[in-house]
Amino acid sequence: MDNFKGKVAVITGGASGIGLGMARAFAGAGMKLVLADLDDAARDAVVAEFRSANVEAVGMRCDVSAHDQLKALAELSMQKFGGVHVLCNNAGVGIPTATHPMKLADWKWIIDVDLYGPIYGIDVFLPIMEAQGEGHISSTSSMAGLFASGFMGAYNVAKHGVVALMATLARDLAARKSAVTASVLCPGPINTNISRHSVSYRPGREKPAADGANAGQAAKGIQKMLEEQGMHPVEVGRLVLEAIQSGRFWIFTHPEMAKIVTKQVAAMVADGSLSGMPRDRQR
Ligand SMILES: NC(=O)c1ccc[n+]([C@@H]2O[C@H](COP(=O)([O-])OP(=O)(O)OC[C@H]3O[C@@H](n4cnc5c(N)ncnc54)[C@H](O)[C@@H]3O)[C@@H](O)[C@H]2O)c1
Repeated sequence: MDNFKGKVAVITGGASGIGLGMARAFAGAGMKLVLADLDDAARDAVVAEFRSANVEAVGMRCDVSAHDQLKALAELSMQKFGGVHVLCNNAGVGIPTATHPMKLADWKWIIDVDLYGPIYGIDVFLPIMEAQGEGHISSTSSMAGLFASGFMGAYNVAKHGVVALMATLARDLAARKSAVTASVLCPGPINTNISRHSVSYRPGREKPAADGANAGQAAKGIQKMLEEQGMHPVEVGRLVLEAIQSGRFWIFTHPEMAKIVTKQVAAMVADGSLSGMPRDRQR
């Protein structure tokens, strides 16, 4: 897809961070926006801001872990704008916890949002795009979708699933000469509120104070690192737009981080070891 003017983008998790960065980049290219998010106040404020800048935008409360809510999102998009050209399955959550013990409720929540969200998005929006004869689906994974570090079990599993989902989808679409294309976004550290938001959405937890004061120590550490070292989300939005324009499948924000993946594959082939782990733990 190379002409975005007047086209429609649906972005989940569009009220904050990377989703909002994509919305800003897409609006700059002349697109109409459908923003889905669970955060009503943030979503309403963002939609109002776009409208006051003469961007055609509509928002909807939508939990991506519920298939019927994605169906309602597609209905809204069709009713308001008569089409959907770009879908960004972007809403996501993550909590740093050892693989065991990790509460089963946390596993289910993270996999439902981070992996079933994109699965449901494809199920609902792909037929609309194929009938329309044009479209692009991008899902947000992570470098955690290519390299599984410790303490992020459910997140790593979901994000590896998103990479597999999008790679398979891209090949399937090419095989049937579909008019729809696909890509996967694998960001490194981006300056967003993901840790704070994830702690607030975690099932069975009381909502923390707005400053994230109840967040676990590890989540706080990640949040601080993202704020100090993370890329600006609008920059990510520009990279996604460029990738859709040029037909690239892999979208990296920090291509230099790919060396952890090549190192892992080299160690796997050389001696079957798991890179990044002390050798004396692998006997
Ligand atoms: N920030 C990073 O460093 C980073 C790195 C790699 C990947 N990612 C991925 O980028 C995506 C966007 O995250 P972000 O960093 O912009 O975080 P963010 O918290 O700023 O934005 C995520 C948005 O998703 C919304 N959301 C959460 N659960 C939802 C649900 N069930 N349904 C609908 N909306 C929901 C939140 O309200 C929030 O507005 C996620 O998939 C995340 O895993 C982020």
